Amino acid sequence: MSANLKDLENPVDYGWEPQPTLGGGSYYLPEAWEAERERIFAADWFCVGREEEVPEVGDMLVRPVAEETVIVTRAKDSELRAFFNVCSHRGTRLCDAGQSHAKSNVIKCPYHAWTYTLEGECVGTPNVHEEEGFDRSTVSLTRMAIDTWAGFIFINMAEDPMPLRESFTRNFDGDPTQFERYGMEDLRIGLQIVYEVEANWKIIIENFNECLHCPSVHPELVQKVPLFRKGKVEDDVGWTGAELIEGATTLTATGESNRSALPGLEARDIGAYFGITQFPNLMFNMHTDCVMVYRLEPSGATHTRIVSDFLFRPEAIEDPDFNPRDIGDFWDLVSLQDWAVCERAQTGVRSRAYANGGVYPFNDRYVWEFNRMYREMMARG
Ligand code: FES
Ligand SMILES: [Fe+2]
Repeated sequence: MSANLKDLENPVDYGWEPQPTLGGGSYYLPEAWEAERERIFAADWFCVGREEEVPEVGDMLVRPVAEETVIVTRAKDSELRAFFNVCSHRGTRLCDAGQSHAKSNVIKCPYHAWTYTLEGECVGTPNVHEEEGFDRSTVSLTRMAIDTWAGFIFINMAEDPMPLRESFTRNFDGDPTQFERYGMEDLRIGLQIVYEVEANWKIIIENFNECLHCPSVHPELVQKVPLFRKGKVEDDVGWTGAELIEGATTLTATGESNRSALPGLEARDIGAYFGITQFPNLMFNMHTDCVMVYRLEPSGATHTRIVSDFLFRPEAIEDPDFNPRDIGDFWDLVSLQDWAVCERAQTGVRSRAYANGGVYPFNDRYVWEFNRMYREMMARG
């Protein structure tokens, strides 16, 4: 985001003028989706899960990335690697989506049984003989870049990607490393809720980046976060959080939980909420006792799977009284309210009346910043 975006409270100081939205076609046309697959999903760092999902040597994680799929392995040297989920023989998809442990530490193609190590090397090609001039070393799995931050696994299909941390610095919503005090690398998934949403991934990110909809769509949320009732997403000058209602420390029905505050938080973080989006597929919700992360898996122009992971301290999860549903149920309510309006927006943007798009007022300025970054990424060669 531009440096001054969060420093100025009112549209006049900011010099804001109403800005155009994206045109309707970018939310449903197959050509827009194909261009995004090339210029964004195959060109940028994309989060595919958490390190805790591949903890042991031999573990594998298979996740979709905009109609590609990636295999993440933890090989003998304990390092994570990422490969395209494609057999180098005849292109067959090797593994189904999900978590697994590789039998005998190999990946075997279900078609003609070629086998690969978790390092991607081809070690078995039944009935194919060296004498015919076949060199197995030329048919390894195709690698892609992989890196981790705060316990999250990111992959990048580009040939020569910019370092992950450097990519954070150009994020439209600020650098997520500003939330390292939440100690996310030490947190673990205590609850996961998965949603299938009939909406373009950008509509979902845009919805997350404004609160003009909060008073009409989220009566329970605005009761807990008074700022949101005003249609704003941030508090006063120089602070990007939102204070919860007096006496509340977290987003549960009661405003409380039996979990301790995450260590490392600053005094003002206690009883505050922060939201941040990491382009293109993570949306973080920071609470005193929990970090909830939406990870988007867009699978086409009009469908997005949304995985909502609730991260807690391991000792909170081990507590016999651990009850993640208190925050889970609250967010499930809010999330379903959001997805319903996103799906409704999706049906409207198809109209010929919206071909040229609509307009962003001042409180939509983060949505506009998202679109600005999106346009930049889409203008790449
Ligand atoms: S396509 Fe995989 S072994 Fe033939
Ligand atoms: Fe919302």
